[in-house]
Amino acid sequence: MSEVLTRPVSEQVASSAHISASKYDEMYRQSVEQPQAFWTEQANSFLQWDKPFTQVVEEDLNRGHCAWFADGQLNVTVNCIDRHLPQRANQTAIIWEGDDPADSETITYQQLSDEVNRLANALRERGIKKGDRVCIYMPMIPQAAYAMLACARVGAVHSVVFGGFSPDALNNRILDSDCTLVITADEGVRGGRTIPLKQNVDKALATCPNVHSVLVVKRTGGDIGWHADRDIWYHELVDKQSTECAPESMGAEDPLFILYTSGSTGKPKGVLHTTGGYLLMAAMSFKYTFDYKEGDIFWCTADVGWVTGHSYIVYGPLANGAVTLMFEGVPTYPDASRCWQVIDKHQVNTFYTAPTAIRALMGMGDHHVTNSDRSSLKLLGSVGEPINPEAWEWYYSVVGDGRCPIVDTWWQTETGAHMITPLPGAHNLKPGCATKPFFGVQPVLLDEKGEEIEGAGEGALAMKASWPSMIRSVYGDHQRMVDTYFSTFKGYYFTGDGARRDADGDYWITGRIDDVLNVSGHRLGTAEIESAIVLHPATAEAAVVGYPHDIKGQGIYCYVMLKEGFEPSEELRKELIAMCNTEIGPIAKPDVIQWAPGLPKTRSGKIMRRILRKIACNELDNLGDTSTLADPSVVDTLIEHRANK
Ligand code: WT7
Repeated sequence: MSEVLTRPVSEQVASSAHISASKYDEMYRQSVEQPQAFWTEQANSFLQWDKPFTQVVEEDLNRGHCAWFADGQLNVTVNCIDRHLPQRANQTAIIWEGDDPADSETITYQQLSDEVNRLANALRERGIKKGDRVCIYMPMIPQAAYAMLACARVGAVHSVVFGGFSPDALNNRILDSDCTLVITADEGVRGGRTIPLKQNVDKALATCPNVHSVLVVKRTGGDIGWHADRDIWYHELVDKQSTECAPESMGAEDPLFILYTSGSTGKPKGVLHTTGGYLLMAAMSFKYTFDYKEGDIFWCTADVGWVTGHSYIVYGPLANGAVTLMFEGVPTYPDASRCWQVIDKHQVNTFYTAPTAIRALMGMGDHHVTNSDRSSLKLLGSVGEPINPEAWEWYYSVVGDGRCPIVDTWWQTETGAHMITPLPGAHNLKPGCATKPFFGVQPVLLDEKGEEIEGAGEGALAMKASWPSMIRSVYGDHQRMVDTYFSTFKGYYFTGDGARRDADGDYWITGRIDDVLNVSGHRLGTAEIESAIVLHPATAEAAVVGYPHDIKGQGIYCYVMLKEGFEPSEELRKELIAMCNTEIGPIAKPDVIQWAPGLPKTRSGKIMRRILRKIACNELDNLGDTSTLADPSVVDTLIEHRANK
């Protein structure tokens, strides 16, 4: 290990922060030793309940069960909108920054209320009621947030599908959760180019008979197809509605949303989150991790199609009555200075982005950054993948001018909110280190036998107790949730990540230890990509592994075995890449395809990915034991023809 350059908590930050080091210790201790008292206080101070809860938590991790505040009732939009109106009706809720730098807009809490209520009434008019599933396939425009909130207002369960997913991927997700209504736009706009969202929806819906309505926001006015019996212009339906819509009072354990994410096996899973616990953790982590103060302007660059967008563009900020910035474009359009210009334009105080973006911008030269002022910035955040120390240092010294703490937030779609992260007034920062658990979070490191490792060490990262925003189910397949997260280590939630704990008790996430890839902060299952590739008539078998990639973090390396009678060609390579694009989306396009005459398999027929991973990573000295292979010679052939990256 190279030496770690620790940045001690700044005195100045600590003196004004919500949580100082001693406050963290005291609150953390209470959160794990007296969870009932701790969570009762937090849930009552962060949220407004229609009906107070009397039960706090009931859990049994052996069967993946937990219930939080179960007899309480609340509505998410009352918490994110209505209760702020007496003081904040005219305060900005959302700053929207369009793809074109000349396009921006502010939406006040009153306007947000009007828009959400109108759309909620429109949903009810189309027959949507509590428990129904609504799919949201949108560009990054305010209507995406209105759509999520309108669902929450009427008790419908939203399933946001990232606008970069293909029609096939959208189709699978709509069918899996049996959505009956889709909200989309004619086209999206990103980096000066349009994305044919409505056309994708039309393709996706070819085999979704239960979808009776498609609401279409007019974003560009481009040409689109129209199905008069199903499609409705959003504005035509919404404009005529009343701005008052009675909120559905929801049980704390009623579902709020489904969000699909990739795992090591099978199709993406619909992670189900519920109302009370999720909103509490989103609200609380927003305030404490980002040390949010009244008036702060917060910008999270994620897309609402990912959990980061759910928790830190929409629910967390709005639950705190904050100003949240929503960005339609990309960091490199019109040029690589865009983020810093947006920060100056809107006087952003907190900027939250992914290491992949930081690395890409770092490579384009400091002048793009130093041309801007950035003096409004107070805090920086990182999310989605491990941040390498070099990128961390650049983010800290160039973007933050050496004066803004960086919060490296580790969490997952399944955790709903931050789990391991520094709090800026409490924790010393170490580049690449996620540091300490959030309140109520009890991480452990487990060895191969499933025993807890004490003190400094490295192992599988798991949680030994539930937390309010823990995954509640995999939609339509509860057993799959139990099998995936609660069976590897009995009595624990298993994260899929490895981690190291240093002598200070700080956690360093080492990355996935299962067959999940993290490509530019996007999660992809190797099995998903393999299934896309073997759909091609020429392929017999495929094995996908990750390898280190300078910008993306991980690149996608595919070993492909062709059927008898097919020859490798550039043409075929392109077809296989196109296959992944069609089945999943552009994020799943392989970086490397290696033609493999055979794959290393055990005598029982199991592909030995460990070996394939090492070949892809050029780690040839230590391939491990190959003696159990059915045909050890395939390894030499693969090594000889490995790709030059
Ligand atoms: C996986 C979860 C959390 C929202 C975005 C991604 C990796 C996430 C960090 C971090 C190291 C990280 C993990 C995790 N990851 N944040 N700060 N340091 N790794 O959510 O798509 O559910 O992916 O992303 O491997 O398991 P997701």
